[in-house]
Amino acid sequence: MKFFIDTADIGEIKEAQSFGILDGVTTNPSLVAKTGRNYKTVIEEICEICRGPISAEVLSVDYDGMMKEAREWQKVGQNIVVKIPLTEDGIKAVVACTAEGIKTNVTLCFSANQALLVAKAGATYVSPFVGRLDDIGQNGLDVIRDIRQIYSNYNFRTEILVASVRNPIHLLDAAKVGADVSTIPLTVLKQLVRHPLTDIGLAKFVEDSKKIPKS
Ligand code: G3P
Repeated sequence: MKFFIDTADIGEIKEAQSFGILDGVTTNPSLVAKTGRNYKTVIEEICEICRGPISAEVLSVDYDGMMKEAREWQKVGQNIVVKIPLTEDGIKAVVACTAEGIKTNVTLCFSANQALLVAKAGATYVSPFVGRLDDIGQNGLDVIRDIRQIYSNYNFRTEILVASVRNPIHLLDAAKVGADVSTIPLTVLKQLVRHPLTDIGLAKFVEDSKKIPKS
């Protein structure tokens, strides 16, 4: 499974990159707004830190605006993936981007039906939001499971990029289902490492290592 980090914070991306296991970065308008910085400048800096796929989301909601921004984002770097919302205009824009060789990540996906359309449009990635589904009492992983089955049935090339990951269980279940990518906050990445028994065991080893004769 590929690990992307879901942030526009340069410091967080550098810290995630330092682990040596980062495969890409996803951003969205809310995450970029939190930085208080120029959108294009932030994305250009991210492209310098991580050579993997970098998702930059269009701000337009109409087809023409989406296509204008997508073509502009493509000029920023070869690892740019244009994030497009899952709407009628968005699907049309994905079809056009696919024809122009622009990689796309279709965001705000909440159902397998939507994901089927996304694959038909030829998107590079689909981003189903598991956390936001859980937030309203729907089982987000069930949607991922359905998408995985449908994509496998027809050998669709679109990659399942599990998003809105709130905790290590989301990531674990996504991996068990066979999702291609999970995009996670830095906090979750750090949670993956930790286990209380590891901490307890290491403390014991350190304590006992002091009893080993020095010569
Ligand atoms: O960036 C897309 C997605 O991961 C955002 O998730 O629900 O934490 O805003 P959320």
